[in-house]
Amino acid sequence: SSDVLGSKPLAGRTVTISAGGTREALDPVRFLGNRSSGKQGVALAAAALEAGARVTFLAAHMDVLPPSGVDVVRVESALELRDAALEAASGSDVVIMAAAVADFRPAEVSDTKIKKSNGDDAPVLHLVQNPDILHELVERRNADKGSQLIVGFAAETGDEDGDVLQHATAKLKRKGCDLLVVNQVGVGRVFGQDENSVIILSGNGAAPQSASGTKTDVAAVVIDRISTELGRVRP
Ligand code: CTP
Ligand code: CA
Repeated sequence: SSDVLGSKPLAGRTVTISAGGTREALDPVRFLGNRSSGKQGVALAAAALEAGARVTFLAAHMDVLPPSGVDVVRVESALELRDAALEAASGSDVVIMAAAVADFRPAEVSDTKIKKSNGDDAPVLHLVQNPDILHELVERRNADKGSQLIVGFAAETGDEDGDVLQHATAKLKRKGCDLLVVNQVGVGRVFGQDENSVIILSGNGAAPQSASGTKTDVAAVVIDRISTELGRVRP
């Protein structure tokens, strides 16, 4: 059938995609958040559905709705996303971490609304580091000697320590994932925008692959690359 010939290259595959930005509670009404819109994750989910996959969509805070046809799991914080990701990943052929996960969360969450009390100094926020979900997924896959394909996303800027590619290559090594999709971030770029430009780095030493255009275009290239990688025999 045409499915076998490649129009539905992910038929029979289950793909988990995280999207949006986590919110880290300070008290019942306040949180620390980020500007992730969730649009890239939605585009990835649509492309994966189009390719025939069954999609579990882990939705942190998003400016847009999840596409219809996916199994949606709503999460708020990084810790909630971690639980959801570990659970969903156990039955998935592919995990794509497109969510912007807060690196830190408040060390303490107040049960009651934090008040300004007369004359007191402004409160100081103490933060603790969140677990690295992507890294944990990779560690578990490796411990299980599994063949799951794990894909990270990274937004990078060049700085005095190196350019975007140098930072991204180091991050790919650190995370141990199979593919890292790298966005170059600057003021007014990527976050909330409809256009972007990425480089796909591979952990197996394959040459970097570029893609640009709308988030839909980028998603199609990423899902295509994932289909190719799944078709390959990996060590
Ligand atoms: N990620 C994750 N868990 C975290 C932080 C990030 O799973 N606690 C995932 C993101 O979903 C993304 C990838 O890791 O797929 C890269 O995120 P990024 O923020 O670029 O990486 P960090 O290791 O947090 O590095 P940085 O200090 O540059 O923020
Ligand atoms: Ca980070």
